[in-house]
Amino acid sequence: MTAILEIDNAFAGYGGGNILRGLTLNVEAGKLTCLVGPNGAGKSTVLKVVSGLLHPRKGEVRFQGQSIGKMSPRAILMQGIVQVPQDRSLFSTMTVRENVLLGGFTLSHHAEKEQRLEEVMTRFPIVRERAKDTAGSLSGGQQKLVEFARAMMLDPKLLLVDEPSMGLEPRVRRLVFDTLQELRAEGRTILLVEQNARSGLEIADVGVVLERGQVRLKGSGADILADPSVGAIYMGTSGRLKTRVQDAPAPTGNDVIESAPDGAS
Ligand SMILES: Nc1ncnc2c1ncn2[C@@H]1O[C@H](COP(=O)(O)OP(=O)(O)OP(=O)(O)O)[C@@H](O)[C@H]1O
Ligand SMILES: [Mg+2]
Repeated sequence: MTAILEIDNAFAGYGGGNILRGLTLNVEAGKLTCLVGPNGAGKSTVLKVVSGLLHPRKGEVRFQGQSIGKMSPRAILMQGIVQVPQDRSLFSTMTVRENVLLGGFTLSHHAEKEQRLEEVMTRFPIVRERAKDTAGSLSGGQQKLVEFARAMMLDPKLLLVDEPSMGLEPRVRRLVFDTLQELRAEGRTILLVEQNARSGLEIADVGVVLERGQVRLKGSGADILADPSVGAIYMGTSGRLKTRVQDAPAPTGNDVIESAPDGAS
């Protein structure tokens, strides 16, 4: 197993306090790793530390063996780490094509940019179909696909995806998870953060449960889904818990992993 990304005993936070408190996590090349955990556990902070938006105060972040903990976001982007952020991030009054091209802003050669755009439009037909429409005229799910397409402009070696299903209706969510699964099948390495834990873990090779800035559990996506302690971690209690899953199977300790409301952050 080759770890493309290694986070080693990282401490990071905002202002005075640490949100990540000795986080150690490896991400294997070619796999989809899904990070789940309660609101405020530090999931987005992990992605910020990897993408250079936040520098660790202590500890190491290595990408392909090279230390990136002190690098700027741009330098990290140039290394091949691209993030699809948690919030909707397209410029709504710009066209779909313009938005996707922005993903290739570090490509200096026009021809290279056009070639990547062509490849990306083949991968994501919606970009070709709606190229001239403003991004704001697309549905939420379509916008998320365009955000994936924009991230693909740099042919990333590691794709960071934060809460892609947030605010989307179930059918569209399925499309987003299917797309992530396809990207993984095409050989992409993906670190996914997902509030909708069941759906995220179902498509994940590796599942990681984060609690208070530390890794509490790590295993195959299926193992984490089946682990009865996950529910307690989510709720900070092992007491009686309600599930919001409408089509939930017979109750088990981990049903609560679906109970964190979508979009609650
Ligand atoms: N820019 C910031 N300044 C100060 N505090 C922040 C900032 N961003 C996040 N935090 C705090 O850090 C903690 C962890 O936040 P983070 O966004 O990493 O959690 P999360 O696990 O992604 O949660 P969610 O599921 O709600 O997205 C929270 O208590 C949050 O309030
Ligand atoms: Mg978050």
